[in-house]
Amino acid sequence: MGDKLKSVRIFREKKENKEFVAGITAYNYPVARIADECGIDWILVGDSVGTCEMGYPTTIPVTMEDMITFTKGVIKGVKNTPVIVDMPFLSFHTTPEEAIQNAGKFLQLGASGVKVEGVKKADNIKAIIDSGIPVMGHIGLNPQYYFQTGYKIVGKNKEEIKESIDSAKILEKTGVFAIILESVTTELALEVLKRSSIPIYGIGAGRNLDGQILVVNDILGLSFGSNPKFAKQYTNLEKQIRKAFTQYKKEVKEGKFPDDKHIYGT
Ligand code: KIV
Repeated sequence: MGDKLKSVRIFREKKENKEFVAGITAYNYPVARIADECGIDWILVGDSVGTCEMGYPTTIPVTMEDMITFTKGVIKGVKNTPVIVDMPFLSFHTTPEEAIQNAGKFLQLGASGVKVEGVKKADNIKAIIDSGIPVMGHIGLNPQYYFQTGYKIVGKNKEEIKESIDSAKILEKTGVFAIILESVTTELALEVLKRSSIPIYGIGAGRNLDGQILVVNDILGLSFGSNPKFAKQYTNLEKQIRKAFTQYKKEVKEGKFPDDKHIYGT
């Protein structure tokens, strides 16, 4: 049963059942555990860990070693939730052999699949899939191409819409089990959706897709105000953490912590 739940078949089943899918990113044990216990449909160990947790300005400095470390914590936290791991910058771009070896590391840690940005390395993506490793595609805005494209909304003209439709077709033909559309116009998203037989999930891609994914730091209010328009903040952990730290410091300075409740007796 647990095995069935973690297979990427569930993504197809949920589309067949017309069930909207809610995914989040997670980078550590406690958040993954809470997401799992709350019934979040799937977790992405995103390379957004670079900007969210490591303080980098882009995702480009994130390495395979970083992704392995964060994936280990997430995998420990989940019982039933499929975990998909982002292939970081340049990790599947050189040879098919290296792409397979790198993707395989995440499956061996307990992930259910990997996610790749863009379609330019379609041969390597196919090589990963042919090795038995489920792959999720990711088109629209691809942050790993930041220095070529910047951060922008994709699909404001016919050429961009056509390019994304073509990319989605290439990915589907290659055998990916789902595609993420990031930061695209509603028109582009719906054009891709209606031509696809695999699940299409959005982040900043409007509604009516097969599901949504959000970056956990945006959901929790831990993005220091740098979240884009589409990133709905559901709580403000920054405020709560600041309050807790300030109170703790005050109590230590005033000699009020530890009080009797928090010390061992003789
Ligand atoms: O790394 C990430 O968080 C992502 C999401 C934007 C889908 O790729």
